[in-house]
Amino acid sequence: MTLSQRGMLGAVAVLLAVAVMVAACAPNPRTEIISPQLGAQLHAREISGAVVAVPTPEPLRIATMSEEEIYAGLPEDFAAALAAANPARGETLALANGCIGCHVLDPNQIMSGPTWYHMGDTAANRRPGVSPAFYIYESIIAPNAYVVSGYPANVMPQNYGDTISLEDLADLVAYLLQQHE
Ligand code: HEC
Repeated sequence: MTLSQRGMLGAVAVLLAVAVMVAACAPNPRTEIISPQLGAQLHAREISGAVVAVPTPEPLRIATMSEEEIYAGLPEDFAAALAAANPARGETLALANGCIGCHVLDPNQIMSGPTWYHMGDTAANRRPGVSPAFYIYESIIAPNAYVVSGYPANVMPQNYGDTISLEDLADLVAYLLQQHE
Protein backbone atom coordinates (compact mmCIF):
# COMPACT_ATOMS: atom_id res chain seq x y z
CA MET A 1 0.00 0.00 0.00
CA THR A 2 1.41 3.39 -0.92
CA LEU A 3 1.44 6.26 1.47
CA SER A 4 -1.38 8.09 -0.37
CA GLN A 5 -3.49 4.91 -0.41
CA ARG A 6 -3.08 4.69 3.34
CA GLY A 7 -4.10 8.33 3.64
CA MET A 8 -7.23 7.64 1.59
CA LEU A 9 -8.16 4.70 3.81
CA GLY A 10 -7.70 6.85 6.89
CA ALA A 11 -9.93 9.53 5.44
CA VAL A 12 -12.64 6.98 4.59
CA ALA A 13 -12.51 5.60 8.12
CA VAL A 14 -12.92 9.10 9.58
CA LEU A 15 -15.82 9.81 7.23
CA LEU A 16 -17.52 6.56 8.25
CA ALA A 17 -17.13 7.37 11.91
CA VAL A 18 -18.63 10.83 11.34
CA ALA A 19 -21.53 9.29 9.41
CA VAL A 20 -22.26 6.88 12.28
CA MET A 21 -22.18 9.72 14.77
CA VAL A 22 -24.50 11.88 12.71
CA ALA A 23 -26.91 8.97 12.27
CA ALA A 24 -26.92 8.43 16.04
CA CYS A 25 -27.90 12.05 16.58
CA ALA A 26 -30.77 11.98 14.09
CA PRO A 27 -34.17 12.19 15.76
CA ASN A 28 -35.93 8.89 16.34
CA PRO A 29 -39.01 9.00 14.11
CA ARG A 30 -40.94 7.00 16.72
CA THR A 31 -40.42 9.60 19.41
CA GLU A 32 -43.56 11.51 20.38
CA ILE A 33 -43.05 15.20 19.58
CA ILE A 34 -44.50 17.43 22.25
CA SER A 35 -46.68 19.78 20.27
CA PRO A 36 -50.04 21.46 20.80
CA GLN A 37 -51.55 18.60 18.79
CA LEU A 38 -50.09 15.81 20.93
CA GLY A 39 -53.00 15.75 23.38
CA ALA A 40 -55.55 15.43 20.58
CA GLN A 41 -53.49 12.75 18.83
CA LEU A 42 -53.15 10.71 22.01
CA HIS A 43 -56.85 11.12 22.68
CA ALA A 44 -57.69 9.84 19.18
CA ARG A 45 -55.48 6.80 19.73
CA GLU A 46 -57.00 6.25 23.15
CA ILE A 47 -60.51 6.16 21.63
CA SER A 48 -59.30 3.74 18.98
CA GLY A 49 -58.09 1.47 21.76
CA ALA A 50 -54.39 1.78 20.90
CA VAL A 51 -53.65 3.46 24.23
CA VAL A 52 -55.23 2.36 27.46
CA ALA A 53 -55.44 5.14 30.00
CA VAL A 54 -54.99 3.80 33.54
CA PRO A 55 -57.18 5.92 35.80
CA THR A 56 -55.51 7.40 38.87
CA PRO A 57 -56.90 5.42 41.81
CA GLU A 58 -59.45 7.35 43.86
CA PRO A 59 -58.25 8.02 47.40
CA LEU A 60 -59.93 5.79 49.98
CA ARG A 61 -62.46 7.43 52.29
CA ILE A 62 -63.49 6.15 55.70
CA ALA A 63 -67.10 7.03 54.92
CA THR A 64 -67.26 4.44 52.14
CA MET A 65 -65.18 1.71 53.80
CA SER A 66 -66.53 -1.35 55.60
CA GLU A 67 -65.83 -1.98 59.30
CA GLU A 68 -63.50 -4.82 58.34
CA GLU A 69 -61.52 -2.53 56.06
CA ILE A 70 -61.26 0.19 58.71
CA TYR A 71 -60.16 -2.08 61.57
CA ALA A 72 -58.16 -4.78 59.76
CA GLY A 73 -54.92 -6.04 61.28
CA LEU A 74 -55.33 -4.76 64.87
CA PRO A 75 -54.11 -6.91 67.76
CA GLU A 76 -57.10 -8.60 69.40
CA ASP A 77 -56.89 -6.81 72.77
CA PHE A 78 -56.65 -3.42 71.10
CA ALA A 79 -59.49 -4.19 68.69
CA ALA A 80 -61.70 -5.00 71.71
CA ALA A 81 -60.69 -1.75 73.46
CA LEU A 82 -61.40 0.20 70.28
CA ALA A 83 -64.85 -1.35 69.91
CA ALA A 84 -65.68 0.05 73.39
CA ALA A 85 -63.85 3.37 72.90
CA ASN A 86 -65.13 6.86 73.61
CA PRO A 87 -63.93 9.26 70.88
CA ALA A 88 -65.00 12.36 72.81
CA ARG A 89 -62.58 11.36 75.59
CA GLY A 90 -59.89 11.07 72.92
CA GLU A 91 -59.99 14.82 72.39
CA THR A 92 -59.32 15.44 76.10
CA LEU A 93 -56.53 12.85 76.05
CA ALA A 94 -54.87 14.58 73.10
CA LEU A 95 -54.67 17.66 75.28
CA ALA A 96 -53.58 15.78 78.43
CA ASN A 97 -50.81 13.89 76.60
CA GLY A 98 -49.46 16.96 74.85
CA CYS A 99 -50.31 15.76 71.33
CA ILE A 100 -51.83 19.11 70.46
CA GLY A 101 -48.48 20.81 70.99
CA CYS A 102 -47.53 19.28 67.63
CA HIS A 103 -50.86 18.38 65.97
CA VAL A 104 -54.01 20.42 65.40
CA LEU A 105 -57.18 19.86 63.38
CA ASP A 106 -56.75 23.15 61.48
CA PRO A 107 -54.98 22.26 58.20
CA ASN A 108 -53.71 25.83 57.78
CA GLN A 109 -51.84 25.99 61.06
CA ILE A 110 -48.20 24.99 60.64
CA MET A 111 -47.10 22.74 63.50
CA SER A 112 -44.15 20.40 63.98
CA GLY A 113 -46.42 17.38 63.30
CA PRO A 114 -48.83 16.76 60.40
CA THR A 115 -52.35 18.17 60.68
CA TRP A 116 -55.14 16.00 62.08
CA TYR A 117 -57.57 17.48 59.56
CA HIS A 118 -59.37 14.46 57.99
CA MET A 119 -56.83 12.23 59.78
CA GLY A 120 -59.05 9.15 59.29
CA ASP A 121 -59.04 9.54 55.50
CA THR A 122 -55.33 10.35 55.48
CA ALA A 123 -54.67 7.20 57.51
CA ALA A 124 -56.62 5.11 55.00
CA ASN A 125 -54.24 6.18 52.24
CA ARG A 126 -50.81 6.45 53.88
CA ARG A 127 -49.74 2.84 53.41
CA PRO A 128 -51.44 0.72 50.76
CA GLY A 129 -52.91 -2.40 52.36
CA VAL A 130 -52.70 -1.03 55.92
CA SER A 131 -56.05 -0.24 57.55
CA PRO A 132 -56.60 3.30 58.87
CA ALA A 133 -57.16 2.10 62.45
CA PHE A 134 -53.93 0.11 62.40
CA TYR A 135 -52.05 3.00 60.80
CA ILE A 136 -53.10 5.46 63.52
CA TYR A 137 -52.50 2.92 66.29
CA GLU A 138 -49.00 2.22 64.98
CA SER A 139 -48.28 5.93 64.41
CA ILE A 140 -48.79 6.49 68.14
CA ILE A 141 -47.02 3.48 69.65
CA ALA A 142 -44.24 3.15 67.03
CA PRO A 143 -43.95 6.51 65.25
CA ASN A 144 -40.85 5.48 63.30
CA ALA A 145 -42.57 2.47 61.70
CA TYR A 146 -43.66 4.91 59.01
CA VAL A 147 -42.35 8.47 58.93
CA VAL A 148 -44.60 10.91 57.10
CA SER A 149 -42.77 12.42 54.15
CA GLY A 150 -41.58 15.96 54.83
CA TYR A 151 -41.35 15.39 58.60
CA PRO A 152 -38.34 14.24 60.59
CA ALA A 153 -38.24 10.95 62.47
CA ASN A 154 -37.76 10.88 66.26
CA VAL A 155 -39.61 14.16 66.91
CA MET A 156 -42.74 12.43 68.10
CA PRO A 157 -42.20 10.82 71.53
CA GLN A 158 -41.38 7.14 71.03
CA ASN A 159 -42.78 5.76 74.31
CA TYR A 160 -46.53 6.40 74.17
CA GLY A 161 -47.03 2.63 73.96
CA ASP A 162 -45.65 2.45 77.52
CA THR A 163 -47.10 5.63 79.01
CA ILE A 164 -50.65 5.56 77.62
CA SER A 165 -53.04 2.80 78.74
CA LEU A 166 -54.70 0.56 76.15
CA GLU A 167 -58.07 2.14 76.93
CA ASP A 168 -56.75 5.68 76.46
CA LEU A 169 -54.97 4.66 73.25
CA ALA A 170 -58.26 3.29 71.96
CA ASP A 171 -60.06 6.56 72.76
CA LEU A 172 -57.32 8.51 70.94
CA VAL A 173 -57.47 6.26 67.87
CA ALA A 174 -61.30 6.43 67.83
CA TYR A 175 -61.13 10.23 68.02
CA LEU A 176 -58.63 10.44 65.15
CA LEU A 177 -60.58 7.96 63.01
CA GLN A 178 -63.59 10.22 63.44
CA GLN A 179 -61.76 13.03 61.65
CA HIS A 180 -62.88 12.35 58.12
CA GLU A 181 -64.83 13.82 55.23
C1 HEC B 1 -43.14 16.72 69.72
C2 HEC B 1 -44.12 16.67 68.66
C3 HEC B 1 -45.15 15.58 68.63
C4 HEC B 1 -45.97 15.16 69.65
C5 HEC B 1 -46.01 15.63 71.09
C6 HEC B 1 -46.86 14.16 69.08
N1 HEC B 1 -46.57 13.99 67.75
FE1 HEC B 1 -47.54 12.78 66.46
N2 HEC B 1 -46.21 13.25 65.00
C7 HEC B 1 -45.20 14.18 65.11
C8 HEC B 1 -44.44 14.21 63.89
C9 HEC B 1 -43.23 15.10 63.59
C10 HEC B 1 -45.04 13.29 63.01
C11 HEC B 1 -44.62 12.97 61.59
C12 HEC B 1 -43.38 12.09 61.56
C13 HEC B 1 -43.71 10.67 61.81
O1 HEC B 1 -44.42 10.06 60.98
O2 HEC B 1 -43.28 10.15 62.84
C14 HEC B 1 -46.17 12.71 63.75
C15 HEC B 1 -47.07 11.79 63.23
C16 HEC B 1 -48.25 11.39 63.85
C17 HEC B 1 -49.29 10.64 63.23
C18 HEC B 1 -49.35 10.24 61.76
C19 HEC B 1 -49.89 11.45 61.00
C20 HEC B 1 -50.06 11.30 59.52
O3 HEC B 1 -50.45 12.29 58.89
O4 HEC B 1 -49.82 10.21 58.97
C21 HEC B 1 -50.27 10.43 64.17
C22 HEC B 1 -51.59 9.70 63.99
C23 HEC B 1 -49.79 11.04 65.38
N3 HEC B 1 -48.57 11.63 65.16
C24 HEC B 1 -50.49 11.02 66.57
C25 HEC B 1 -50.03 11.60 67.76
C26 HEC B 1 -50.69 11.46 69.04
C27 HEC B 1 -52.00 10.74 69.27
C28 HEC B 1 -49.94 12.13 69.95
C29 HEC B 1 -50.16 12.26 71.44
C30 HEC B 1 -50.42 11.05 72.17
C31 HEC B 1 -48.82 12.71 69.21
N4 HEC B 1 -48.90 12.35 67.90
C32 HEC B 1 -47.83 13.50 69.78
C33 HEC B 1 -44.92 14.96 66.21
C34 HEC B 1 -45.53 14.84 67.43
